[in-house]
Amino acid sequence: MKKIEAIIRSEKLDELREALDAQGLSSMTVTEVKGRGAQKGITLEWRVGNYKVEFIPKVKVELVVDAENVDKIIEIIDRVCSTGKVGDGKIFISPVEEVIRIRTGERGTKAL
Ligand SMILES: Nc1ncnc2c1ncn2[C@@H]1O[C@H](COP(=O)(O)OP(=O)(O)OP(=O)(O)O)[C@@H](O)[C@H]1O
Ligand SMILES: [Mg+2]
Repeated sequence: MKKIEAIIRSEKLDELREALDAQGLSSMTVTEVKGRGAQKGITLEWRVGNYKVEFIPKVKVELVVDAENVDKIIEIIDRVCSTGKVGDGKIFISPVEEVIRIRTGERGTKAL
């Protein structure tokens, strides 16, 4: 099993949820986050001067999935969340050792 953590533009969340749902992927955790990437925040230019925003609001979507679904999910996230401009976000993949459904005690992919 793998955990996919995608940091995306907030306005892409609904479209991403729909696209994942259409593939039978309904379970996920969504968190409002703040972060910065290579551009180190943004500088807003006002008539009265510049204002540096160090952390930009984003949404983090976490899905724990069967490893065989990972490529398909990366493809969906890329398709929905890419605008080609800086700040489109990033996808992190990591291994997951075990999953337990608390209600039934099921483990592994059965518990996803
Ligand atoms: N290496 C990283 N570690 C942890 N979080 C990151 C990392 N890179 C990006 N993020 C998170 O992803 C968000 C979006 O990053 P962003 O898309 O701006 O990455 P980037 O590397 O600057 O790429 P781009 O040049 O396309 O903007 C950041 O605000 C931050 O929350
Ligand atoms: Mg960036």
